[in-house]
Amino acid sequence: MKLLVCGGAGFIGSNFVRQRVRDHGDEVVVLDKMTYAGRRENLQDLEVELVVGAIEDADAVEAAVGQGFDAVVNFAAETHVDRSISGPEAFVETNCRGTMVLLEAARRHDVARYVQISTDEVYGSIDEGSFTEESPLQPSSPYSATKTGGDLIVSSYFHTYGLETVICRGSNNYGPYQYPEKLIPLMVLNAFHGDKLPVYGDGMQVRNWLYVEDFGRGISHVLSHGAPGEVYNIGGPEECPNIDVVKRIIALTGNDESLIEYVTDRPGHDRRYSLGSEKVRALGWEAQVHFAEGLEKTVQWYRDNEWWWAPIRSGEYREYYERHYGRALG
Ligand code: NAD
Ligand code: TYD
Repeated sequence: MKLLVCGGAGFIGSNFVRQRVRDHGDEVVVLDKMTYAGRRENLQDLEVELVVGAIEDADAVEAAVGQGFDAVVNFAAETHVDRSISGPEAFVETNCRGTMVLLEAARRHDVARYVQISTDEVYGSIDEGSFTEESPLQPSSPYSATKTGGDLIVSSYFHTYGLETVICRGSNNYGPYQYPEKLIPLMVLNAFHGDKLPVYGDGMQVRNWLYVEDFGRGISHVLSHGAPGEVYNIGGPEECPNIDVVKRIIALTGNDESLIEYVTDRPGHDRRYSLGSEKVRALGWEAQVHFAEGLEKTVQWYRDNEWWWAPIRSGEYREYYERHYGRALG
């Protein structure tokens, strides 16, 4: 296939591009704004064209989509809940308005398939049981609210204009190339350095962990076999409270639990995510990587790839980290 992958220089997008090029022989063009989360290094082992541009920039999008593609896959987003709490504007601009600009170009150019990458966070928090695709949308954070807005605009382009859209809602991803603002790489890199491990609140919030390659395989199933206008949940095989994730990382890095520091909770913090994936299973997908195996592989990847994270830790990330955690961690 010839694919336009928006946000393909980020964590999940670059892993997806790698799968598509290596396993499917696709021709891929990446359109990416190259925010702090977009990294050229994420794609440096691949032969793909990288176009630097924002999905909310109608001219850049028109030039890219106008090249002609079999499908557009949209990963482009502002993605960090904590940053959405301190500054929601960029989230509205990219996750809502950018999605609309991209859809508009896809419609004008009769793109045969539009795939929106979304999140389980649109459903909000669930104490018991699991979300299905029919669960009400009850986002809690500016991040999840703007992702919900994006999803609703996508659905409107299916119903109103007949654009063949599909939406993939993934649970929390982890794996290689994840920017260290997110829980798992943050804890891994802090543990390597013997730094404090900042756990929000009581650490008993539960996330449904999905190895990034499993998410990519699920997206490929939906890209090829998903029904137009439909939503597909793609959830990880295991749930784990944050404190257990942190303790596993401590064990894998040979540290001790004195590194754990309980810090002030995130405002509006969702307690538990749990995603039912029956619908995508019916398309033939199954998660292949268990959490213990995936976490071990991830820790090993960060151990082997200091070239990737060392420049990040000394750049914009350091300022973000000091601003966000500085006072709490002394
Ligand atoms: P990321 O922050 O690592 O990457 C986002 C990418 O989008 C970066 O390359 C960035 O430069 C690019 N981008 C940001 N704003 C843009 C804009 N306006 N125009 C073009 N490019 C822009 O994020 P990620 O974790 O790889 O997430 C990718 C997608 O998957 C997002 O849509 C996110 O909501 C969704 N998702 C993430 C997770 C997770 O656990 N990380 C889980 C489910 C769904
Ligand atoms: P995160 O990786 O930000 O993903 P999301 O908020 O989208 O689920 O956080 C995962 C969980 O880890 C979430 O419950 C918040 C928690 N967390 C901490 O306890 N400490 C941290 O420093 C971070 C970044 C997250």
